[in-house]
Amino acid sequence: MYINFWYPICTTEELVAEKPLRSQLLGLTFVAFRDTDGKAHVLHDICVHRGGSLSMGKVIGDCVECPYHGWQFAGDGKCKLIPSLGADGNPPARAKVDTYPVEEKYGIVFAFLGDLPEAERPPLYEIEEYEDPAWRQHELVLMEINCFYERSMENGIDPQHNEFVHPAQGNPTPIPGSVEHPVSEWGSGVTSKYTELTTKQSEDAGMKSNPAELGAGTWYHGPNTLITWVTFKKNTSLHQYFFEAPIDGNHTKIYFINMRSFRLDPKYDDSIRDANLNVISEDIGVLETLYPVRTPETRTKEVMTEGDRAIVRYRDHLDEWNANGWRLDWNAMQENEGDIAYAIPCPERRNSGNWVLDEVPLKRVAQKSVESAA
Ligand code: FES
Ligand SMILES: [Fe+2]
Repeated sequence: MYINFWYPICTTEELVAEKPLRSQLLGLTFVAFRDTDGKAHVLHDICVHRGGSLSMGKVIGDCVECPYHGWQFAGDGKCKLIPSLGADGNPPARAKVDTYPVEEKYGIVFAFLGDLPEAERPPLYEIEEYEDPAWRQHELVLMEINCFYERSMENGIDPQHNEFVHPAQGNPTPIPGSVEHPVSEWGSGVTSKYTELTTKQSEDAGMKSNPAELGAGTWYHGPNTLITWVTFKKNTSLHQYFFEAPIDGNHTKIYFINMRSFRLDPKYDDSIRDANLNVISEDIGVLETLYPVRTPETRTKEVMTEGDRAIVRYRDHLDEWNANGWRLDWNAMQENEGDIAYAIPCPERRNSGNWVLDEVPLKRVAQKSVESAA
């Protein structure tokens, strides 16, 4: 798990006015709330007074109030009121909690969990067709699965599993040479042309596919955003976006957005969503039984072949982010569970000192034990 990326915290709909919301990610707890202008804020959940959980408190004006002794923290993370000091009392400078940049998009409240200054941050994935009337988006679907998010991400970019995990879809495993692996600064993936793809999926969607125009691709963007595009024929495509929130080392919450450029009438939403969820449930059935739960730290404990090339690329990117010092030391966090309250450093930590909570332990293992299998 990595700091310095955008993570989904909750949906826009869940974050109602005047009520703090508790969200768990990366083994930590966060509080989200809206100020009087409706602007969403995401703060670390632990009150620096004596460990209260802010998300169990109240929203008072532009602040979230700790349920234990009523300290009030604003969206900038600073404590504005300590009731026991009286209305004129001055909260000490150390009375501040980490607060994270927020973007509210696609019906999701995202927070940038890390301390990079704005100019250096990896971007939130841009869904270009999101507002395009030629596309239809069905409602956001939330799923919680009992597996490590990297297993789920790797499954998404794995073209070899379709034939076996989704036999009804009729997607043959692409043969070497029939796939491409485009790479960008923050991701990579697989694109394939299928000549006999997907009879079933195409028929389910009520159309005949044109083999010449048929294609599919899956990509990752950062460690936790997965993109799948399937084109059945010209102007007839499904685009799926999975924004994944690692809850901890073996649970993941997925915010799933499905866009389509056909059957735009909302009356088709349910059947198309259900068809997608059927396929996803086949993936979950396998993912929840993989072992070890988290991918091995060294690649010598697996046998990768050409068909795993996209996964090797994903691991290469993870290694880069690891070398940047962005990877959580999950084992160290577990060892101190219950004893140390860790916080992901927020951007303000680069401007001011005197922070109360320890920064999460980070790992810097710049290892690439096996060169790309491909
Ligand atoms: S613990 Fe939060 S106000 Fe005391
Ligand atoms: Fe799958």
